[in-house]
Amino acid sequence: MNQTAASRPAVEKPAVGRRVALVTGGIGGIGTEICRQLTQTDCKVVAVDLAARSERIAAFRDEIASSHDAITFEPADVSDFDSCQQLVARIEQQHGRVDILVNAAGITRDASLRKMTPQQWHELMRVNLDGVFNMCRNVVEGMTARGFGRIVNISSVNGQTGQFGQTNYSAAKAGVHGFSMALARETARKGVTVNTVSPGYCDTPMVAAVSAEIRAQIIADIPVGRLGSPADIARTVAFLAADDAGYITGANLPVNGGYFMSF
Ligand code: CAA
Repeated sequence: MNQTAASRPAVEKPAVGRRVALVTGGIGGIGTEICRQLTQTDCKVVAVDLAARSERIAAFRDEIASSHDAITFEPADVSDFDSCQQLVARIEQQHGRVDILVNAAGITRDASLRKMTPQQWHELMRVNLDGVFNMCRNVVEGMTARGFGRIVNISSVNGQTGQFGQTNYSAAKAGVHGFSMALARETARKGVTVNTVSPGYCDTPMVAAVSAEIRAQIIADIPVGRLGSPADIARTVAFLAADDAGYITGANLPVNGGYFMSF
């Protein structure tokens, strides 16, 4: 049946107008750029990161000086459920709601499995996978009750392909997409979309930590011929977070310069 503009379900805008977006890993390599680009879509953005990163918080404040009234910083540890619960309560108290959640907090603990310690496994799972549960669990009821939400979880090309030295990271990132598809089904009828973005190798401190030799091999295998930029990822996140992206859910958008192509 042909849907006319009149019969299409209208997207409810909150009375106050500006969407409230929460970005975990908000002062990280990709997170800062996500915060910046979301302000360009007129969101009020809350960057969430560990309070312990005081020197990075200072640098972040300098970087975002031009949009400082649109971006605020809130400390939280995504690996701790109570910390996430308190964070969401604080933001809902201040801003009335959370409309957009971007889970960009992530760490690496690279080691081949024969050398990987249980600590390297668990630390990574607590941030990269439990963190997604902890945040989504605390925003989902408000979003579904209000009939609007956009959740974008940052996965990785290495969750799609696996990577030598990353059994923990690849497992968590593949898990993030499985989680997102399941949650997308639970919230689809309530105006809440849940998607993943899978970056390839980007120009961030995380990738800079890989040995120069391995990094050079990886770049040689990227058809576009360069590392991705945080802006490449952020524009995809902003696309999925938009009000009119309501028919995209349970999807994974790869942004990897052609490093891994699939249908
Ligand atoms: N592919 C194939 N073989 C490899 C290899 C690789 N990438 N790395 C090491 N090996 C081989 C070595 O040549 C060596 O072989 P021999 O025993 O025959 O000599 C053997 O494996 C060494 O194994 P080890 O267990 O001793 O491995 P290591 O300690 O030397 O290196 C590692 C392990 C540091 C994790 C290294 O493999 C590595 O840096 N891998 C890449 C990790 C990576 O790409 N991380 C991405 C981080 S960025 C990110 O994750 C962002 C994102 O989303 C894309």
